Amino acid sequence: MNPPPPTRHFASDNYAGICPEAWAALADANQGHAPGYGDDAWTGKATDLVRAIFETHCEVFFVFNGTAANSLSLASMCQSYHSILCHETAHIEADECGAPEFFSNGTKVLLMPGPDGKVDPAGIERMVKKRTDIHYPKPRAVSLTQSTELGTVYSPGEIKAIWAKAKSLGLKIHMDGARFANAVAALGVAPKEITWQAGVDVLCFGGTKNGIPVGEAVVFFDRELAREFDYRCKQGGQLASKMRFISAPWVGMLKDGAWLRHAAHANAMATLLEEKLRPMPQVRILFPRQANAVFAELPRAAIDGLRQRGWKFYTFIGQGGCRLMCAWDTTPDDVETFAANLGALLR
Ligand SMILES: Cc1ncc(COP(=O)(O)O)c(C=O)c1O
Repeated sequence: MNPPPPTRHFASDNYAGICPEAWAALADANQGHAPGYGDDAWTGKATDLVRAIFETHCEVFFVFNGTAANSLSLASMCQSYHSILCHETAHIEADECGAPEFFSNGTKVLLMPGPDGKVDPAGIERMVKKRTDIHYPKPRAVSLTQSTELGTVYSPGEIKAIWAKAKSLGLKIHMDGARFANAVAALGVAPKEITWQAGVDVLCFGGTKNGIPVGEAVVFFDRELAREFDYRCKQGGQLASKMRFISAPWVGMLKDGAWLRHAAHANAMATLLEEKLRPMPQVRILFPRQANAVFAELPRAAIDGLRQRGWKFYTFIGQGGCRLMCAWDTTPDDVETFAANLGALLR
């Protein structure tokens, strides 16, 4: 008899369900009536908690997903004749169906290469100085993904170096933090050290991949950029009428550190997965594994064999290879079983 197919996968951290802390907060929020559109106590509490973890008075808005968070925040930084610099694998370029350009009425996304999914100061300078004439869309912002689409992490020093260059070139810094929690857990830093203290103007703080059912927080450290952002959210279809059900899970996650515990666990599962895979013949680990993703090149027959056994994972993200993503609920047993299946296929 064949073993039962796996119930958890390595395709994406958004395959995972809702973590207990977020679920409990949702249940707590589901009592009686509360004002709509964010005028409720849960949204106030979640906003205060975001300010507390960043140790600054930032402006905070809760939206439904990462595409909206990125697109609307970038639109608030740019005019239509501007451009946004990002890595060629960036989600805003590769996986948002042109939404950043759409919501900004045409701001162009300009792509940069760079090892391990990262941009660097020299690349930014090259891109800005390549053309300075009126015919070219004026660079206005640089977007960094933390952790990156290739599972690597920008250190505080790397972000600060980008900031110095960006400042000298008149660029704002946007951070796509769909997996910001994984980066904070991996680096062991205070959240402020890789955001506003390193020059980040706006962070799209990911909740969904961390265990929240639905929603991301747009955090403006440059509060001037947040002017009228509430109208932008409303027009973009991102103002939830029953906002408490978007914001309450954030309270559950942030009030006692569940967000970091879950991220650290996902990172640890990726560490274990890498340890299991690295010694296998015919397996090549593609990028430094620094957060919750392992990218590996596997023989075609092994990919097919794993899929026949029911495993789901992506092969189209980043720069090729299999992306194996761990989540807050990935277990050591999931990792062992996957590795054992792969080992058997390679024998
Ligand atoms: C790097 C990155 N940014 C943003 C997102 C958010 O996308 P979505 O619009 O699906 O919530 C994702 C999700 O896969 C992502 O990987």
